[in-house]
Amino acid sequence: MDLWHIRGGNRLEGACPVQGSKNASLPVLAASILAPQRCRLLHVPRLRDVDAALRILRHLGCEAEQRENEVYIDSTGLSGCSIPHGLMAEMRSSVIFMGALLSRCGEARLSMPGGCRLGRRPIDLHLAALRKMGARIEEEGGELLCRPSKLHGEEIRLSFPSVGATENIMLAACSARGETVIRGAAREPEIVALQGFLRMTGADVSGAGTDTVYIRGFRPTGAAVCRILPDRIVASTFACAAAAAGGDVELRGVEPGQFSTVLHFLNEAGCDIITKTHSVRLRSEGRLRAVGRVVTEPYPGFPTDAQPVLMAALLKAEGTTCIRETIFENRFRQAPELCRLGADIVCEGRTAWIRGVKTLRGAALHATDLRGGAAMIVAGLCAQGETVVFDEGHVKRGYDGFDSALRALGAEIRLE
Ligand code: UD1
Repeated sequence: MDLWHIRGGNRLEGACPVQGSKNASLPVLAASILAPQRCRLLHVPRLRDVDAALRILRHLGCEAEQRENEVYIDSTGLSGCSIPHGLMAEMRSSVIFMGALLSRCGEARLSMPGGCRLGRRPIDLHLAALRKMGARIEEEGGELLCRPSKLHGEEIRLSFPSVGATENIMLAACSARGETVIRGAAREPEIVALQGFLRMTGADVSGAGTDTVYIRGFRPTGAAVCRILPDRIVASTFACAAAAAGGDVELRGVEPGQFSTVLHFLNEAGCDIITKTHSVRLRSEGRLRAVGRVVTEPYPGFPTDAQPVLMAALLKAEGTTCIRETIFENRFRQAPELCRLGADIVCEGRTAWIRGVKTLRGAALHATDLRGGAAMIVAGLCAQGETVVFDEGHVKRGYDGFDSALRALGAEIRLE
């Protein structure tokens, strides 16, 4: 159990380098097995989810090792195509190994994925698309059995721009015969990053970042070097922390356009924001205004992953903010915990109203999920006295050195 001890009240000041993206790293790690090849990945965060992906790669017979922020993978020795339940249960994105294994081996055996409990999180779109491409997938008591199949290119129309389904189809399509077209694809920066890696390894992919992605085949190159893009959700978290606690923080090594919706609301709340090509400077007096209405949407809309930390930042803002969550059905689990600090949040279905309060008081909280846990830490930074967040390891799934980065900015935080 991780215990985060936070003593609120300090302003945050200084430069904050932002880690590589978890959600960009994971599909690239899965893509490393598409062909027998060696890959070197730079700027990879040290996270529990990355460890879990590396363990899956080693289980499949690959060499996979992380040294600081570099990951080396040699998938020439891949010898298996099944992933045991224990490894699958560690994170939801393990499901993209299905597309990668189908591409490399033509078959796969895995169990239904784990991950944050944010609602039902079905994988019906993944399965329907892969089946349309010729995969023979049977579901047996929580197991996914993909029998030996030859995949062919198809036109896939997604009824919702699922990030994971788009990635899974892109991976599977690399070895499919003929062209695959994904219509209604997710447009997240992580999809563009996956396209970049796939091109480097020899795939003919285009369109990522728009709602139509084309995959036309694959001529393996044998090696690739790739730098993981900065984590827009981690950048949003530090921005929300500085906004709420007050301070003057420069986020370095970021792509401001990738979290501009979050910066937009922080600016509306009263923060002074200056963006440069790869940095964002945010100044806040710590006295914010409510921002009216926030609706989470697929990219380029406001990201659901930044919703809990924005909620935390607005707990003391003057007025009432309304947040509507449209992506996940159960994503306000942090709210009752934040109320223990004295916050005034009312949730009804997928809508939450946050009425700003004058003071928050430290309390013992339980991290409910990855971003919910981060939200509690952000709230603790502007609460009087000590907040302790009891966390079964959720936050470390997505934040690399969160406590030391916050301490470097002047926060009083200790991880036990
Ligand atoms: C990814 C991100 C996650 C983020 C989410 C939405 C990774 C590793 N994770 O998750 O941090 O919160 O995008 O931006 O990149 N859905 C279905 N059927 C499907 C697939 C999805 O109904 O087959 C639904 C889900 O239940 C959810 C919504 O679509 O309500 C979004 O899911 P999706 O975009 O697939 O998210 P993930 O890829 O799981």
